[in-house]
Amino acid sequence: MKISLIGYMGSGKSTIGPELAVLSGLDYYDLDKEIEKHTGYTITETIFNKGELYFRQIERDILKEILAKNNFVLSTGGGTPCYYDNIDLINKASLSVYLQYSVKDLFERLKGNTAERPLIAHLEGEPLLEYIGKHVFERSVYYEKATVLIRAGKLSKLEIIKEIKNYTHE
Ligand code: S3P
Repeated sequence: MKISLIGYMGSGKSTIGPELAVLSGLDYYDLDKEIEKHTGYTITETIFNKGELYFRQIERDILKEILAKNNFVLSTGGGTPCYYDNIDLINKASLSVYLQYSVKDLFERLKGNTAERPLIAHLEGEPLLEYIGKHVFERSVYYEKATVLIRAGKLSKLEIIKEIKNYTHE
């Protein structure tokens, strides 16, 4: 079984992923952490020093490496499915699960929590809300290609994990 979690920044991919992996007896990978291991730099350092395009290329390379493995849960980065044909690679290799939240929910989850997120670290209040709204709108076309969509807004962490596990009984 291979499961890839996708969704906007702040949608809980890196929180749900490790628990889902333990409960399912699968390995766990966090794409951002694997990129950091590979480069030796934080995501923020890589994007600021080398540019976003460079980051997206590495992100794609490491994504491919992980998708070639077996028996895992992968938490992708918020932008991963939206570049190149990454969403097709993810869908071909794994069960993709989109953790969907409203723009307002994402704003609530992200405000005061942007420091480690280079794309939104400079934003707060109304400009942050507007940015999230536009960005999610642009990215939804990719996110919605996921095989499973979980409306996560009103669900607890455990309920989300249970819902995902409903799709993974073999
Ligand atoms: C990004 C999301 C981040 C990280 C990078 C770019 C994005 O991951 O990959 O900062 O483009 O949405 P998280 O979704 O884990 O914050």
